[in-house]
Amino acid sequence: MSLLQRSLAAVWHPCTQMKQHETLPLLAIARGEGAWLIDSEGKRYLDAVSSWWVNLFGHCNPHINQRLREQLDKLEHVMLAGFTHEPVVALSEKLSALTGGVLGHAFYASDGASATEIALKMSLHYWRNLGRSDKNRFVCLAGSYHGETVGALAVTDIALFRDAYAPLVRSADTVPSPDWRQARDGETRVDVARRAAAGLEAWLEAHHTTTAALIVEPLVQCATGMAMYDAEYLRLARALCDRYQVHLIADEIAVGCGRTGTFFACEQAGIWPDFLCLSKGISGGYLPLSLVLSRDAIYQAFYADEVSRGFLHSHSYTGNPLACSAALATLELFERDEVLTNNRTRARLMKDAADNIVTHSAVHHLRQHGMILAFDVPSAAPGFARRFAEHALQQGVLLRPIGNTVYWMPPYIVEAADIETLAQASMSALQHALDVTKY
Ligand SMILES: Cc1ncc(COP(=O)(O)O)c(C=O)c1O
Repeated sequence: MSLLQRSLAAVWHPCTQMKQHETLPLLAIARGEGAWLIDSEGKRYLDAVSSWWVNLFGHCNPHINQRLREQLDKLEHVMLAGFTHEPVVALSEKLSALTGGVLGHAFYASDGASATEIALKMSLHYWRNLGRSDKNRFVCLAGSYHGETVGALAVTDIALFRDAYAPLVRSADTVPSPDWRQARDGETRVDVARRAAAGLEAWLEAHHTTTAALIVEPLVQCATGMAMYDAEYLRLARALCDRYQVHLIADEIAVGCGRTGTFFACEQAGIWPDFLCLSKGISGGYLPLSLVLSRDAIYQAFYADEVSRGFLHSHSYTGNPLACSAALATLELFERDEVLTNNRTRARLMKDAADNIVTHSAVHHLRQHGMILAFDVPSAAPGFARRFAEHALQQGVLLRPIGNTVYWMPPYIVEAADIETLAQASMSALQHALDVTKY
């Protein structure tokens, strides 16, 4: 049996209707090299979605590999309850320092959804510890995505992922998204943000006594189709959360670690949330690692003689030393290679490379926040995403449109030539996917 047949026989692949693999072949990847993936037959693919938005400095990055090897020879894992180790302490200190000390006490888990769950539970438990058990509901933005475990689905407003599990999920309320594509005639992006914030204000006015927290994906709602919005919304949301005594949870799982231009997306609004969730890029795309940073006042509300006031949440691999070492190596690369500064040049190259695309008559709302560039093809016939992705792969570029939205989210090591390849493959895939007569 070939590897592909063995995979289909033994592996249940994520986010996939497996029957589609009757006609859509799996790709067996044998190696990774920088921004490129290499299949078992030696064909190369530019990883233009950073392997589900996790990879920052390329596959098999020599620096991260080296740091992992060093850690491997010291300690692979130890439980974090009752024990500690250098990588988890050093990483927590560094992340707190990156928030200017506003958000400390990192709580660790593995995947992004677990970080969402932790932030929701911490917020609710904080209010309970303060004698405000009535504050136990959550509010999220329309179109939000915060992961797919049952608690995270409660604040995920994407019907395809949530509806089948409705009986399990205690859905949060939604407030309008500040998505700048919704600008009415004469409105600026800031106007859209203000209009959405007015919606939030009205909602909080009515529900703040029973609301624990507002959860947002700062600046870009990625999974719903790269909906981008102005930082003004975060400033206003912060002020409203303060006024109504509601926590602000910033889910920076996808947009953190430099993706939007600053290390944390919230920095562009000049605000800090009460909880900040990180995952994906923090380990450089190497190992499952997620964490929640919180304000000291929150930590203190759990610090007591009674065990039950403590945060008794845990995962077996919490604070895994190897994952923390990969994260430390990732942060070292940010400093050593002046990544945020150099990404400004890369982001400009991406914008310039999209020049031909933006003038295509089928393309709408070409938009960008740092190292995320996206555009919509609203008139495309059903099946566009699959046609586009298949053709792009044939051109040697890994792209996975979300519905009719095409996006680029490459690792931070892409070179000018890679960006050119990406633009050419996108243009070719666009033409091809629009021409349904070929199918
Ligand atoms: C904003 C956001 N939150 C949470 C998650 C869930 O992360 P994970 O897939 O690691 O559980 C994602 C995943 O794409 C995400 O984009």
